[in-house]
Amino acid sequence: MRLASAIRPATDREVPLAVDVLRRAGFGTQVARLLEYPRRSPHGAILVAEGEGGGVSGVACVAAFASTGWIGALGVAPEARRRGLGAALTEAAVRWLRARGSQTVLLYATEAGRPVYERLGFVTEERAVAWRGVSGAAPPTDLLRLTESDRAGMGALDRLVTGERRDAVLDTIVPLSGVAVDGGADGLLGWAIASPWGAGTAIAAARPEVGVALMAAATAGPAAGTLIVPDGNGAAIDALHAWRFVRLNDALRMRLGPAVAWRPEMQFGLFNLFWG
Ligand SMILES: CC(C)(COP(=O)(O)OP(=O)(O)OC[C@H]1O[C@@H](n2cnc3c(N)ncnc32)[C@H](O)[C@@H]1OP(=O)(O)O)[C@@H](O)C(=O)NCCC(=O)NCCS
Repeated sequence: MRLASAIRPATDREVPLAVDVLRRAGFGTQVARLLEYPRRSPHGAILVAEGEGGGVSGVACVAAFASTGWIGALGVAPEARRRGLGAALTEAAVRWLRARGSQTVLLYATEAGRPVYERLGFVTEERAVAWRGVSGAAPPTDLLRLTESDRAGMGALDRLVTGERRDAVLDTIVPLSGVAVDGGADGLLGWAIASPWGAGTAIAAARPEVGVALMAAATAGPAAGTLIVPDGNGAAIDALHAWRFVRLNDALRMRLGPAVAWRPEMQFGLFNLFWG
Protein backbone atom coordinates (compact mmCIF):
# COMPACT_ATOMS: atom_id res chain seq x y z
CA MET A 1 0.00 0.00 0.00
CA ARG A 2 2.79 2.38 0.91
CA LEU A 3 4.48 1.73 -2.44
CA ALA A 4 1.35 2.42 -4.46
CA SER A 5 0.52 5.65 -2.64
CA ALA A 6 3.95 7.07 -3.50
CA ILE A 7 3.39 6.62 -7.27
CA ARG A 8 2.38 9.89 -8.95
CA PRO A 9 3.00 11.98 -12.08
CA ALA A 10 6.61 13.15 -12.42
CA THR A 11 7.49 16.77 -11.74
CA ASP A 12 9.61 18.54 -14.38
CA ARG A 13 12.66 18.05 -12.16
CA GLU A 14 12.03 14.30 -12.03
CA VAL A 15 11.76 13.72 -15.78
CA PRO A 16 15.55 13.40 -16.30
CA LEU A 17 15.64 11.05 -13.28
CA ALA A 18 12.90 8.94 -14.89
CA VAL A 19 14.89 8.83 -18.13
CA ASP A 20 17.95 7.67 -16.19
CA VAL A 21 15.97 4.84 -14.52
CA LEU A 22 14.65 3.72 -17.91
CA ARG A 23 18.13 3.77 -19.46
CA ARG A 24 19.41 1.66 -16.58
CA ALA A 25 16.41 -0.66 -17.04
CA GLY A 26 17.56 -1.32 -20.63
CA PHE A 27 15.32 0.99 -22.68
CA GLY A 28 18.23 2.40 -24.71
CA THR A 29 19.59 5.85 -25.29
CA GLN A 30 16.58 7.13 -27.28
CA VAL A 31 14.00 6.62 -24.51
CA ALA A 32 13.79 10.37 -23.72
CA ARG A 33 12.20 10.91 -27.15
CA LEU A 34 9.56 8.28 -26.41
CA LEU A 35 8.62 10.08 -23.19
CA GLU A 36 7.85 13.36 -24.97
CA TYR A 37 4.32 12.22 -25.87
CA PRO A 38 3.15 11.16 -22.36
CA ARG A 39 4.95 14.18 -20.92
CA ARG A 40 3.27 16.78 -23.13
CA SER A 41 -0.10 15.24 -23.92
CA PRO A 42 -3.09 15.88 -21.64
CA HIS A 43 -3.97 12.24 -22.42
CA GLY A 44 -0.69 10.83 -21.11
CA ALA A 45 1.54 10.86 -18.05
CA ILE A 46 4.91 9.79 -16.77
CA LEU A 47 4.25 8.13 -13.39
CA VAL A 48 7.15 7.74 -11.01
CA ALA A 49 7.80 5.88 -7.78
CA GLU A 50 9.80 7.93 -5.33
CA GLY A 51 13.16 6.54 -4.37
CA GLU A 52 15.37 7.40 -1.45
CA GLY A 53 16.55 11.00 -0.99
CA GLY A 54 14.18 12.55 -3.52
CA GLY A 55 15.22 10.18 -6.30
CA VAL A 56 13.14 8.02 -8.65
CA SER A 57 13.22 4.23 -8.37
CA GLY A 58 10.59 3.22 -10.94
CA VAL A 59 8.67 4.61 -13.92
CA ALA A 60 5.51 3.71 -15.83
CA CYS A 61 4.16 5.79 -18.72
CA VAL A 62 0.54 5.90 -19.81
CA ALA A 63 -1.36 7.02 -22.91
CA ALA A 64 -5.18 7.04 -22.97
CA PHE A 65 -7.18 6.74 -26.23
CA ALA A 66 -10.97 6.88 -25.74
CA SER A 67 -11.94 3.39 -24.50
CA THR A 68 -8.41 1.93 -24.66
CA GLY A 69 -5.22 2.87 -22.89
CA TRP A 70 -1.57 1.87 -23.04
CA ILE A 71 1.15 1.30 -20.48
CA GLY A 72 4.71 1.61 -21.75
CA ALA A 73 8.24 2.43 -20.73
CA LEU A 74 7.74 0.67 -17.39
CA GLY A 75 10.99 0.03 -15.59
CA VAL A 76 12.38 -0.34 -12.11
CA ALA A 77 15.95 0.61 -11.16
CA PRO A 78 18.03 -2.60 -10.85
CA GLU A 79 18.69 -1.97 -7.12
CA ALA A 80 14.94 -1.60 -6.34
CA ARG A 81 13.67 -4.78 -8.05
CA ARG A 82 11.86 -7.80 -6.57
CA ARG A 83 10.05 -5.79 -3.90
CA GLY A 84 6.75 -5.46 -5.67
CA LEU A 85 7.45 -2.08 -7.28
CA GLY A 86 6.88 -3.35 -10.86
CA ALA A 87 3.45 -4.64 -9.81
CA ALA A 88 2.61 -1.43 -7.91
CA LEU A 89 3.58 0.73 -10.92
CA THR A 90 1.41 -1.41 -13.20
CA GLU A 91 -1.56 -1.15 -10.81
CA ALA A 92 -1.13 2.63 -10.57
CA ALA A 93 -0.97 2.89 -14.38
CA VAL A 94 -4.13 0.79 -14.76
CA ARG A 95 -5.93 3.00 -12.22
CA TRP A 96 -4.81 6.17 -14.06
CA LEU A 97 -6.10 4.80 -17.38
CA ARG A 98 -9.37 3.41 -15.96
CA ALA A 99 -10.10 6.83 -14.41
CA ARG A 100 -9.90 8.23 -17.98
CA GLY A 101 -12.29 5.70 -19.47
CA SER A 102 -9.93 2.97 -20.71
CA GLN A 103 -11.95 -0.24 -20.54
CA THR A 104 -9.10 -2.21 -22.08
CA VAL A 105 -5.51 -1.63 -21.01
CA LEU A 106 -2.85 -2.76 -23.48
CA LEU A 107 0.92 -3.10 -23.34
CA TYR A 108 3.88 -4.76 -25.01
CA ALA A 109 5.68 -6.92 -22.46
CA THR A 110 9.27 -8.02 -22.23
CA GLU A 111 10.05 -11.49 -20.81
CA ALA A 112 10.89 -9.81 -17.47
CA GLY A 113 7.59 -7.95 -17.41
CA ARG A 114 5.29 -10.76 -18.52
CA PRO A 115 4.94 -12.61 -15.15
CA VAL A 116 4.29 -9.30 -13.36
CA TYR A 117 1.42 -8.49 -15.76
CA GLU A 118 0.04 -12.04 -15.76
CA ARG A 119 -0.32 -11.96 -11.99
CA LEU A 120 -2.44 -8.82 -12.36
CA GLY A 121 -4.76 -10.53 -14.86
CA PHE A 122 -3.29 -9.45 -18.22
CA VAL A 123 -3.68 -12.05 -20.98
CA THR A 124 -1.36 -12.65 -23.91
CA GLU A 125 -2.38 -11.70 -27.43
CA GLU A 126 0.52 -11.97 -29.86
CA ARG A 127 4.14 -11.09 -30.42
CA ALA A 128 5.49 -8.07 -32.30
CA VAL A 129 9.05 -8.09 -33.61
CA ALA A 130 11.36 -5.19 -34.48
CA TRP A 131 13.21 -5.90 -37.74
CA ARG A 132 16.04 -4.04 -39.40
CA GLY A 133 17.28 -3.98 -42.96
CA VAL A 134 16.92 -2.54 -46.46
CA SER A 135 13.94 -3.56 -48.57
CA GLY A 136 14.06 -5.40 -51.90
CA ALA A 137 11.45 -5.97 -54.60
CA ALA A 138 7.86 -4.94 -53.79
CA PRO A 139 4.52 -4.69 -55.66
CA PRO A 140 4.45 -1.59 -57.92
CA THR A 141 2.23 1.05 -56.27
CA ASP A 142 1.58 4.76 -56.77
CA LEU A 143 2.56 6.57 -53.62
CA LEU A 144 1.33 10.04 -52.73
CA ARG A 145 2.89 12.41 -50.24
CA LEU A 146 0.62 12.73 -47.16
CA THR A 147 -0.85 16.20 -46.69
CA GLU A 148 -3.06 17.80 -44.05
CA SER A 149 -6.12 16.97 -46.16
CA ASP A 150 -5.41 13.25 -45.57
CA ARG A 151 -5.90 13.44 -41.80
CA ALA A 152 -9.52 12.26 -41.80
CA GLY A 153 -8.73 9.34 -44.11
CA MET A 154 -5.67 8.47 -42.06
CA GLY A 155 -7.73 8.40 -38.87
CA ALA A 156 -10.44 6.23 -40.47
CA LEU A 157 -7.92 3.61 -41.59
CA ASP A 158 -6.16 3.74 -38.21
CA ARG A 159 -9.49 2.99 -36.46
CA LEU A 160 -10.10 0.02 -38.77
CA VAL A 161 -6.62 -1.39 -38.21
CA THR A 162 -6.21 -0.80 -34.47
CA GLY A 163 -9.83 -0.95 -33.31
CA GLU A 164 -8.91 2.14 -31.26
CA ARG A 165 -9.40 5.90 -31.54
CA ARG A 166 -5.84 7.15 -31.52
CA ASP A 167 -6.65 10.73 -32.61
CA ALA A 168 -4.84 12.10 -29.54
CA VAL A 169 -1.54 10.78 -30.84
CA LEU A 170 -2.20 11.16 -34.60
CA ASP A 171 -3.17 14.83 -34.17
CA THR A 172 0.16 15.48 -32.48
CA ILE A 173 2.11 14.58 -35.64
CA VAL A 174 2.54 17.99 -37.31
CA PRO A 175 3.59 18.27 -40.05
CA LEU A 176 2.60 14.88 -41.45
CA SER A 177 5.71 13.33 -42.89
CA GLY A 178 4.94 10.25 -44.94
CA VAL A 179 3.31 8.63 -47.94
CA ALA A 180 -0.09 7.12 -48.72
CA VAL A 181 -1.91 5.02 -51.29
CA ASP A 182 -5.21 6.45 -52.49
CA GLY A 183 -8.09 4.05 -53.22
CA GLY A 184 -10.35 6.68 -54.83
CA ALA A 185 -13.89 6.22 -53.56
CA ASP A 186 -12.57 3.69 -50.99
CA GLY A 187 -10.50 6.40 -49.29
CA LEU A 188 -6.91 5.82 -48.24
CA LEU A 189 -5.79 2.21 -48.75
CA GLY A 190 -2.63 2.69 -46.75
CA TRP A 191 -0.30 5.17 -45.11
CA ALA A 192 3.20 5.23 -43.71
CA ILE A 193 4.32 7.95 -41.31
CA ALA A 194 7.51 8.69 -39.50
CA SER A 195 6.87 9.85 -35.93
CA PRO A 196 9.05 11.67 -33.44
CA TRP A 197 8.71 8.82 -30.93
CA GLY A 198 10.36 5.77 -32.35
CA ALA A 199 13.00 4.41 -34.61
CA GLY A 200 10.51 2.84 -37.00
CA THR A 201 7.78 3.97 -39.39
CA ALA A 202 4.10 3.38 -38.55
CA ILE A 203 2.27 1.70 -41.44
CA ALA A 204 -1.43 0.78 -41.82
CA ALA A 205 -2.84 -0.80 -44.96
CA ALA A 206 -6.16 -2.36 -45.94
CA ARG A 207 -4.53 -4.74 -48.45
CA PRO A 208 -1.37 -6.86 -48.17
CA GLU A 209 0.22 -5.64 -51.41
CA VAL A 210 -0.29 -2.02 -50.36
CA GLY A 211 1.24 -2.69 -46.94
CA VAL A 212 4.28 -4.44 -48.42
CA ALA A 213 4.81 -1.59 -50.93
CA LEU A 214 4.72 0.93 -48.05
CA MET A 215 7.18 -1.18 -46.02
CA ALA A 216 9.51 -1.21 -49.04
CA ALA A 217 9.24 2.57 -49.45
CA ALA A 218 9.95 3.13 -45.74
CA THR A 219 13.13 1.03 -45.76
CA ALA A 220 14.49 1.65 -49.28
CA GLY A 221 17.97 2.50 -47.95
CA PRO A 222 20.77 3.19 -48.36
CA ALA A 223 20.87 3.07 -44.53
CA ALA A 224 19.06 0.17 -42.83
CA GLY A 225 15.59 0.99 -41.49
CA THR A 226 13.49 -0.45 -38.65
CA LEU A 227 9.97 -1.87 -38.83
CA ILE A 228 8.03 -3.30 -35.88
CA VAL A 229 5.51 -5.84 -37.16
CA PRO A 230 2.97 -8.14 -35.44
CA ASP A 231 3.68 -11.82 -36.02
CA GLY A 232 0.03 -12.15 -37.13
CA ASN A 233 0.81 -10.25 -40.34
CA GLY A 234 1.93 -13.10 -42.63
CA ALA A 235 2.40 -10.93 -45.75
CA ALA A 236 4.66 -8.52 -43.85
CA ILE A 237 6.71 -11.32 -42.29
CA ASP A 238 7.15 -13.05 -45.69
CA ALA A 239 8.44 -9.80 -47.20
CA LEU A 240 10.87 -9.23 -44.29
CA HIS A 241 12.26 -12.75 -44.75
CA ALA A 242 12.56 -12.29 -48.53
CA TRP A 243 14.44 -9.00 -47.95
CA ARG A 244 16.69 -10.72 -45.37
CA PHE A 245 15.83 -8.34 -42.53
CA VAL A 246 17.30 -9.27 -39.14
CA ARG A 247 15.34 -9.51 -35.87
CA LEU A 248 16.35 -6.88 -33.33
CA ASN A 249 14.02 -7.62 -30.41
CA ASP A 250 10.44 -8.54 -29.67
CA ALA A 251 7.65 -8.11 -27.15
CA LEU A 252 4.31 -9.69 -26.34
CA ARG A 253 1.07 -7.74 -26.71
CA MET A 254 -1.04 -8.23 -23.57
CA ARG A 255 -4.37 -6.84 -22.48
CA LEU A 256 -6.49 -6.36 -19.39
CA GLY A 257 -10.19 -6.05 -20.21
CA PRO A 258 -12.33 -6.89 -23.24
CA ALA A 259 -10.61 -7.75 -26.54
CA VAL A 260 -10.25 -4.86 -28.99
CA ALA A 261 -11.26 -5.45 -32.65
CA TRP A 262 -7.66 -5.24 -33.79
CA ARG A 263 -6.46 -6.26 -37.28
CA PRO A 264 -2.80 -7.29 -37.01
CA GLU A 265 -2.84 -8.42 -40.65
CA MET A 266 -3.36 -4.75 -41.58
CA GLN A 267 -0.61 -3.39 -39.33
CA PHE A 268 2.71 -3.30 -41.23
CA GLY A 269 4.57 -1.04 -38.83
CA LEU A 270 4.03 0.09 -35.24
CA PHE A 271 4.95 3.52 -33.92
CA ASN A 272 6.85 1.83 -31.10
CA LEU A 273 6.49 -0.85 -28.43
CA PHE A 274 4.71 1.57 -26.07
CA TRP A 275 1.35 2.36 -27.68
CA GLY A 276 1.51 0.19 -30.77
C1 LIG B 1 10.04 -6.04 -15.23
C2 LIG B 1 10.36 -5.15 -14.05
C3 LIG B 1 9.68 -3.81 -14.23
C4 LIG B 1 9.83 -5.81 -12.77
O1 LIG B 1 10.09 -4.93 -11.67
P1 LIG B 1 10.08 -5.44 -10.16
O2 LIG B 1 9.97 -4.25 -9.29
O3 LIG B 1 11.21 -6.36 -9.92
O4 LIG B 1 8.70 -6.26 -10.15
P2 LIG B 1 8.03 -7.00 -8.90
O5 LIG B 1 8.89 -6.85 -7.69
O6 LIG B 1 6.63 -6.55 -8.82
O7 LIG B 1 8.03 -8.52 -9.41
C5 LIG B 1 9.23 -9.15 -9.81
C6 LIG B 1 9.44 -10.44 -9.03
O8 LIG B 1 9.74 -10.17 -7.68
C7 LIG B 1 8.89 -10.93 -6.83
N1 LIG B 1 8.67 -10.18 -5.60
C8 LIG B 1 7.82 -9.15 -5.42
N2 LIG B 1 7.89 -8.71 -4.14
C9 LIG B 1 8.83 -9.47 -3.52
C10 LIG B 1 9.37 -9.49 -2.23
N3 LIG B 1 8.96 -8.63 -1.29
N4 LIG B 1 10.35 -10.40 -1.96
C11 LIG B 1 10.78 -11.25 -2.91
N5 LIG B 1 10.30 -11.28 -4.17
C12 LIG B 1 9.35 -10.41 -4.46
C13 LIG B 1 7.64 -11.09 -7.64
O9 LIG B 1 6.88 -12.20 -7.18
C14 LIG B 1 8.22 -11.33 -9.00
O10 LIG B 1 8.65 -12.67 -9.16
P3 LIG B 1 8.78 -13.43 -10.56
O11 LIG B 1 10.22 -13.67 -10.73
O12 LIG B 1 7.97 -14.65 -10.42
O13 LIG B 1 8.22 -12.52 -11.63
C15 LIG B 1 11.90 -4.94 -13.90
O14 LIG B 1 12.52 -6.21 -13.86
C16 LIG B 1 12.53 -4.13 -15.02
O15 LIG B 1 12.57 -2.91 -14.98
N6 LIG B 1 13.04 -4.85 -16.05
C17 LIG B 1 13.70 -4.23 -17.20
C18 LIG B 1 12.72 -3.43 -18.05
C19 LIG B 1 11.52 -4.24 -18.46
O16 LIG B 1 11.63 -5.35 -18.97
N7 LIG B 1 10.33 -3.66 -18.25
C20 LIG B 1 9.07 -4.26 -18.61
C21 LIG B 1 8.66 -3.65 -19.89
S1 LIG B 1 7.15 -4.34 -20.44
